[in-house]
Amino acid sequence: MKKITVGALLLSMMFGSVHAQSLQSPDGKFEMNFQLKQGVPYYNLKYNGVTVVEDSKLGLRLFKDTSIKFASEIAKPEDAKFDLNNGFTKTEEKRDSKNETWQPVLGEKKNYINHYNELALTLNQASTERSIVVKFRLFNDGLGFRYEFPQQKNLNYFVIREEDSEIDFPTDMKAWWIVADYDSQEYQYQETKISEIPARWDKAFDANASQALVKNAVQSPLMLKKEGKNPLYVNVAEAAVLDYPASHLEVDAQNFKFKTHLTADRQGAKGYIQTPSVTPWRTIIVSPKAEEVMDSKMIFNLNEPTKYTDTSYIHPTKYMGVWWEMIIGKSQWAYSTAENVHLGKTDFTKLTPNGKHAANNTKVKEYIDFAAENGFKGLLIEGWNTGWEDWFGHSKEFVFDFITPYPDFDIKMLNDYAHSKGIKLIMHHETSGSATNYERWSDKAFQLMNKYGYDAVKTGYVGDIIPRGEHHYSQWTINHFYRIAEKANEYKIMVNSHESVRPTGESRTYPNYISAEAARGTEYEAFGGNNADHQTILPFTRWMGGSMDYTPGIFQTKLDYYFPGDKRFVKTTLVKQLALYVTMYMPLQMAADLPENYKKHMDAFQFIKDVAADWDDTKILSAEPGDYVITARKAKGTDNWFVGGITDENKRDYTVDFSFLDKGQKYEATIYEDGKDADYIDNPQSYNIYKKQITGKSKLNFKMARSGGFAISIKPVK
Ligand code: NOJ
Ligand code: CA
Repeated sequence: MKKITVGALLLSMMFGSVHAQSLQSPDGKFEMNFQLKQGVPYYNLKYNGVTVVEDSKLGLRLFKDTSIKFASEIAKPEDAKFDLNNGFTKTEEKRDSKNETWQPVLGEKKNYINHYNELALTLNQASTERSIVVKFRLFNDGLGFRYEFPQQKNLNYFVIREEDSEIDFPTDMKAWWIVADYDSQEYQYQETKISEIPARWDKAFDANASQALVKNAVQSPLMLKKEGKNPLYVNVAEAAVLDYPASHLEVDAQNFKFKTHLTADRQGAKGYIQTPSVTPWRTIIVSPKAEEVMDSKMIFNLNEPTKYTDTSYIHPTKYMGVWWEMIIGKSQWAYSTAENVHLGKTDFTKLTPNGKHAANNTKVKEYIDFAAENGFKGLLIEGWNTGWEDWFGHSKEFVFDFITPYPDFDIKMLNDYAHSKGIKLIMHHETSGSATNYERWSDKAFQLMNKYGYDAVKTGYVGDIIPRGEHHYSQWTINHFYRIAEKANEYKIMVNSHESVRPTGESRTYPNYISAEAARGTEYEAFGGNNADHQTILPFTRWMGGSMDYTPGIFQTKLDYYFPGDKRFVKTTLVKQLALYVTMYMPLQMAADLPENYKKHMDAFQFIKDVAADWDDTKILSAEPGDYVITARKAKGTDNWFVGGITDENKRDYTVDFSFLDKGQKYEATIYEDGKDADYIDNPQSYNIYKKQITGKSKLNFKMARSGGFAISIKPVK
């Protein structure tokens, strides 16, 4: 247990419960208490009478004025009097509540329920004649709170030095975390106690193309578990990170306490604010059941409804891609052997082809044929445009123009060919982190997409951001991501963004911003591997605020198939790859492997062909972070269900109880399970497929191999 000092005890006796404001969740299970202790705001959180969050401080530190220069010049002690973290008195208290049901354009369920009680407290800082509002929303699944800055005489413009929102836990919980970084989330998850985070931290990362680590801090969403007789699962995250930097969590390992740490910009500043304005919501989701935490839609509920007038162009799509062959190193994005190219000047037809350029007319037509024959609607093509010869690592601002195809990519012919077969090509805009260049070209780039009938783009931000010194998760860059989403909406284009900031529920407001990558995806299996439990943690962390382009579906998991002696391999069985289509929600869902590998397993490939990408209902049947996830989903607008189960590096049994199916209805289940001898290291491609009649009364047991799983497709029998 943590130490409580006598002083702290005395203080709490003196100022405890005086002037406390309480807020209850609609079901009465949660209670939030707010109080000012000597002018400093504090809150705590209880669940069923048990303290989940102890008294924790709120507030922000500011720079003195908006004319800051460089970080070294601006952190002056005398600036403290400008901070918004002390000297407050409460002047107003407003209560509100809401119980609404809304329909996401694309979602895991048809209806999302937004049910909360709200408390908004106006706090006045007499010494500076400024007021802020702290707003709390208490849902049946947890707490959200944020700061609001009304426009007023002494608070029109300001610059944030740091937001100091604390979350102080009473006990040393188990934590699933990745290291904090202003530029990347592509790390392996660690499973330790809170108290063990600092000792593990230095061993918890590998190199990344763009990296600005924050020592002893972890990323959000952070998943926690209070172990013991009455377990409690806690998820700490944020919602609606717009016009504000993304936050990390500084760890106080002795006191089991976390504190907000915002992503700094090039000047060391953490948010330029013009009032009226609001911060993102800090969120704490709590349940005795891990499944309920995973199922929570609180982060989406804390985002604003969309203002888009037309969302009819937004649709789920399963796609294949000219992609994996470049990721594993079999082919290349670049067309030529040149090392230095100048867009607009270099004549690419005169360059020497490197002989490995995948986005060529012949190969793309083959991919189109295979994708069309198997019912896919989209085909991503990377490396179609000029500039890949020197795209990375040179801080080159004008790195791509997003409109000029390589000489061997006939954009009109290929789009016509694709459309004649019911396929839309998916555009690729790698920016190489040069966001300024992308803003310069985005209108022309989207016009080209409209001209040829592309309706989805995969963007990418590999490497350091330009404007130089900005970070992937700083305020400017976050504004860039959503400016691009809005512009894409003007052109009726869906966006799937890689290396961008993790989503925090913004798909409610920007429903064409379908997903981001923002974690270690399948590509890492070729760059050093993902741990076998990785996919059992992501739904509790990265997925809490929106879908991820994980790119599942690798059947040829061992890369020595391509390169004899190559030790790299995808750390799952083939069947676990199938199950990921259910456990990983993604409305723009990829089948990432090469056609030649699917052709060898057409029976297993049938599951990927059948599975839906958008859902009317989702049931998390059973889940434990780091161990297993079993999910059932009902396909949008049909009575078809799909079930996916995955396990970590341990073999596991699970009995599916099909009572979620309609009573009295008979179904045909097609079952894909690991073979008896399946194993992610020794025998990943061993599987069985069989059909079985089931009803809502059926129970079936499945044996999952090490890093294996099972997948079921269920259709009503007429
Ligand atoms: C990294 C992305 O995650 C990957 O999908 C893409 O192929 C490369 N960047 C090149 O843009
Ligand atoms: Ca485990």
